[in-house]
Amino acid sequence: MPRAVRRAVTAAVEYGVGRAGIAVVRALDRDVIGQAHRPRGAAGRVNGWMFAHRPSNRQRNGWVVSLLDVQPTDHVLEIGFGPGVAVAELVRAGAGHVYGIDHSGVMLRQASRRNAAAIRGGRVTLMRASVDGIPAALEGPFDAVLAVNSLGFWPAPAERLAELRRRLKPGGRIAIASQPRCPGATAGTSRKAAREIEDLLRDAGFTHLSTETLALAPPAVCVLAAGPSRTS
Ligand SMILES: C[S@@+](CC[C@H](N)C(=O)[O-])C[C@H]1O[C@@H](n2cnc3c(N)ncnc32)[C@H](O)[C@@H]1O
Repeated sequence: MPRAVRRAVTAAVEYGVGRAGIAVVRALDRDVIGQAHRPRGAAGRVNGWMFAHRPSNRQRNGWVVSLLDVQPTDHVLEIGFGPGVAVAELVRAGAGHVYGIDHSGVMLRQASRRNAAAIRGGRVTLMRASVDGIPAALEGPFDAVLAVNSLGFWPAPAERLAELRRRLKPGGRIAIASQPRCPGATAGTSRKAAREIEDLLRDAGFTHLSTETLALAPPAVCVLAAGPSRTS
């Protein structure tokens, strides 16, 4: 029985239905929302379903892919693909090959199911791995790298971004997107997230930064930047 359900049942027995309601909310907060950084177990499957079906999540992922303007020769790497919505969009947009890592086994299964045809067709490779241990098979070089609502969970993000820059081809590009999901998030929260991403990308050596905003509630922001220049 999932932990969230077990806690609710215990509370129902001990305190009656009113308290059980509070316990459900608290348990869901810890076990469903609180584990967005690494969905696992039954609550993780619920989280993945929500990432894949919430309209704003779908819009956000499609929008980030459109900003990348992928070409048929592009090899693209996504970090933290979740249930694989952006992977599917990248395939639809005509990317040559889409690679992805996510450290959640539950997300790997959901994304693999969502993109089963493209995996069978040799256009998508998904692996379970953390951004601080990218498998040698995904050494690159890549034409583009993206991460959507994932960077906030990475250990030492500045170092990770510098590593990702080394995996880009000359002329390669990166898109890092965020739609703050913390309670009470506003347009100001999104602007702050954009500034933090911009600073991290600059510190990691990326250039030609531009920040786009998608009018959702709260807004999604995406910082696009260039990796190594073609002449360096
Ligand atoms: C909030 S979800 C977003 C999923 C998807 N990008 C989307 O927008 O629907 C964050 C995802 O990043 C993954 N993630 C978090 N930290 C990670 C890390 N260190 N390495 C790889 N994936 C990570 C989580 O497992 C989760 O699938």
